Amino acid sequence: MKVLVIGTGGRDHAIAWKFAQSRRVKQVYVAHGNAGIAEIATCVDARTITEMADFAEKERIDLTFVGPEKPLSAGIVDLFESRGLAIVGPNQQASRLESSKCDTKVMLRELGIPIPEFEVFSDPEKARDYVRQVGYPVVVKADGLAAGKGSLVCSGIPDAEAAIRAIMEERIFGDAGARVDIEKRLNGRELSFFCFTDGYSIVPMEAVQDYKRARDNDEGKNTGGMGAYSPHPWLDEVLVQTIMSQVAEPLIQGVREKYGMLYRGILYLGLMLTEEGAQTIPQVLEINIRLGDPEAQVILPRLDTDLVDVCEAMLTGRLKDVRLSWDEHYRLCLIAVSGPTKGKKGWYKGYPDRYKIGVPITGVDRIDPACLAFHSGTERDGAGQLLTTGGRVLCIVSRGRDLAEARANACGEMEKVSFEGMTYRKDIGKN
Ligand code: GLY
Repeated sequence: MKVLVIGTGGRDHAIAWKFAQSRRVKQVYVAHGNAGIAEIATCVDARTITEMADFAEKERIDLTFVGPEKPLSAGIVDLFESRGLAIVGPNQQASRLESSKCDTKVMLRELGIPIPEFEVFSDPEKARDYVRQVGYPVVVKADGLAAGKGSLVCSGIPDAEAAIRAIMEERIFGDAGARVDIEKRLNGRELSFFCFTDGYSIVPMEAVQDYKRARDNDEGKNTGGMGAYSPHPWLDEVLVQTIMSQVAEPLIQGVREKYGMLYRGILYLGLMLTEEGAQTIPQVLEINIRLGDPEAQVILPRLDTDLVDVCEAMLTGRLKDVRLSWDEHYRLCLIAVSGPTKGKKGWYKGYPDRYKIGVPITGVDRIDPACLAFHSGTERDGAGQLLTTGGRVLCIVSRGRDLAEARANACGEMEKVSFEGMTYRKDIGKN
């Protein structure tokens, strides 16, 4: 079978790698990939969803899997389905769960799913009045897609006013900031929870601990993700059942029955677990319609079940018959990012702020083959030299019988990689 993966990042490299492991897959194509992906798949220069559908039709692709949220929100699933092409992911209507934070919160409230207190604003003045009036710490979220960086966690009223100004008036996230969702900032344990769903049945994946802040000890700015490991240290079967019964099941059933949305694909719940007496309440902070990056880089190497079988079950409504099997070993992912560097006009602060690209990378060829290297932002120049093209550059995923072993392996291998300004968090998995 021929599989097409849509995406260019580390998550998408991991998805392509997972399909390449399948005995059922003869050829993996990726639109449009990067230098690491090109080592395991055929990269296709299709940039628009129409070019991707044209390629899939011409090449007779049997199955397409979408990595990032943008093509999903642009309607790639509707387009492929209109041409009779098999594709995994939610359609454009269901993709609103990620592409509109405001509408989703309203929907969750109507479905009775636990969420923080919130209000939606399109007028910055009214938003400022609200944060002054409630007085408690808030999170200000841009309504639309903002590459995972659209939530500003505020500690006081001046901070919240600055966030409103930045998102709604300075438009640091563009039109994604035309509306904001302002939520009460909750205290609790944060958790990312991933499932496969065919719109009726839901199968949870093994959980992951991720690290979103740029620097060690959870300091610095929020990023798309700086590292991750799995299995998760405290998510147990009881908690999984609580999340399934209080969030995942009422959500998938509710959007289908109340809003006519058949949600098929990956469901990624961003949760805050709060305690009320003896009860744990999984409150939904956000919903994403795809695998996480770098969560996918540690989940997929642990998934022993063939991803093609899971995709077929999602597409044919047979997910209830699927039992996932998982490798019990730990996987730990460290991400190397473009940090501070000197440019012609001064300093680049480095990811998640501005960073330099086109920087030569060395040492990747010396990484132990027992580890996986998934690329996020790389390309090769005409002479074959590996160069940086992004803030997140590449990751190393190690395996270990326990967390300490996985961590030692990943750190040891990361020492071999080098590029100007390279930084990575040294505390991933250091509990
Ligand atoms: N790691 C966070 C995300 O993929 O949105």
